[in-house]
Amino acid sequence: MKTKIFCDSADFNTIKLLNKNSIVDGFTTNPSLMRLAGAKNYKNYSLKILKSCKKKPISFEVFADKPEEMLKQAYKINQWGKNVYVKIPVVNSKGIFMGPIIKRLSKDKIKLNITAVYSLNQTKKILNCLNKDTKSIISIFAGRMSDKGIDPLPILKKSILLCKKFKNIHVLWASTREAYNYLQAKQIGCHIITMPPAIIYKISAFGKSAKLMTIDTVKGFLSDSKKSKFKI
Ligand code: E4P
Repeated sequence: MKTKIFCDSADFNTIKLLNKNSIVDGFTTNPSLMRLAGAKNYKNYSLKILKSCKKKPISFEVFADKPEEMLKQAYKINQWGKNVYVKIPVVNSKGIFMGPIIKRLSKDKIKLNITAVYSLNQTKKILNCLNKDTKSIISIFAGRMSDKGIDPLPILKKSILLCKKFKNIHVLWASTREAYNYLQAKQIGCHIITMPPAIIYKISAFGKSAKLMTIDTVKGFLSDSKKSKFKI
């Protein structure tokens, strides 16, 4: 099974460029990435992105915190394009499980990306709400877990196992921290991994020999010392 590579960015030029690159199968955005990209009008900015990314799946997240508002935003975002996945956080900022929202949208055949998932129990609860005939993604934030000293592999592996019998439900390795995470995701049979563009470029350089790596490292140190005109 192939582990698909998604690009985790809301930068318009990056999406435009990587949309033409066959290594990238799709895109994920979130409100923080939209802010970082300088989006002022959420809808217009998303529609601009969708003009250059018409086919590859792309996730846009709701940002409302009240369930009924989240629902309204989700229906609107879903209208933006056929390749759009609506990202719904597993809980709102009060920690309340967004199950009823997930259930309703999924029942209406809306493609969902359930985000900010950190536990197996959450995966189980999400699975109970999803319509198994509609494509859905469960995004597990591996990097943010390892940032806090928790090994994300057990929850990823168990979640993948739970989703195995549902061909439309895919587990996504989110919050990627290093290029090696791609190999780990492949090893455990994770359906998708989303990565910042810088890590995607690193993957393209996989397979470099130890000899070349050491020379490149030393070259980097040498060039920086020259640029800084270091003297002892
Ligand atoms: C996933 O879809 C998220 O946008 C993303 O992977 C979050 O990553 P971060 O932890 O680097 O913010």
